[in-house]
Amino acid sequence: MKLTVDILIRKDYNEMSKTAAGFIAQLVQSKPDCVLGLATGSTPIGTYRELIRCHREEGLDFSQVTTFNLDEYLGLGVHLDQPYSLDQSYARFMYEELIKHINIKKENTHVPDGLAKDPGKFCQEYEAAIKDAGGIDLQLLGIGGDGHWAFNEPGSSLGSRTRVQALMKQTLDDNYESFYAKAGFERKNMPHFAITMGVGTILEARNILMIANGLKKADVVAQGIEGPVTAQITASAIQLHSGGITVVLDEDAASKLKHKEHYIHVERMKKEYNL
Ligand code: GLP
Repeated sequence: MKLTVDILIRKDYNEMSKTAAGFIAQLVQSKPDCVLGLATGSTPIGTYRELIRCHREEGLDFSQVTTFNLDEYLGLGVHLDQPYSLDQSYARFMYEELIKHINIKKENTHVPDGLAKDPGKFCQEYEAAIKDAGGIDLQLLGIGGDGHWAFNEPGSSLGSRTRVQALMKQTLDDNYESFYAKAGFERKNMPHFAITMGVGTILEARNILMIANGLKKADVVAQGIEGPVTAQITASAIQLHSGGITVVLDEDAASKLKHKEHYIHVERMKKEYNL
């Protein structure tokens, strides 16, 4: 598989999603028993739709794939007996947006257990399960409005491991707007804590695939990619990764990048010389 440090700019959300899904599909084809790190949020929905299309129309085979999700709200778990809108767990999101549409074995899909009786112990077991599976081949990531990866809020150590994290105001506001409000929940009723892979856990993935779209993300994308590495923008840890890094952005999310033209040239150069 060829994944290098690339910042790829696409004209819109649709193209961003197709490009991101292309990398994942390429990995699944070349390593059918690969381990994928998956993300939730509105950003990856298009990527998952494209993967579902590849499965249905092109026979992309997920039967040997294992997945580990980044995070889950503490106190939430899947309730398939409830309508999707009322079940705001990330486990349900994954089931509805990807898992139920592809031929992956349910037992090979992992989302942190928001209902774990001993969440601290669960976090250690989650880390161990990732190791036992051989580590993550490719971790898909969005970026939060405050620059976070998974639920690694500003101030999280860049060496942090899977743990319980208190969510900050901006994340609660953003996630309330995107999901909870639509389901008719009151703001005060949304979970304030979560289980999240740590930044250090994420950095151990052999490849990182970060995606972002929309003007709302333009500032944090620029800070994360071109700003200083800081625990205040945990996505800036991408600059510390030593393996393959690919960032796929739509034009809006890329609009504040200082070296945008350069990234476009690099992509052109790589294509022209087959690098
Ligand atoms: C949540 C998730 C993150 C995600 C972020 C952005 O906080 N824990 O993994 O990247 O939301 O979500 P969206 O893609 O909806 O902007």
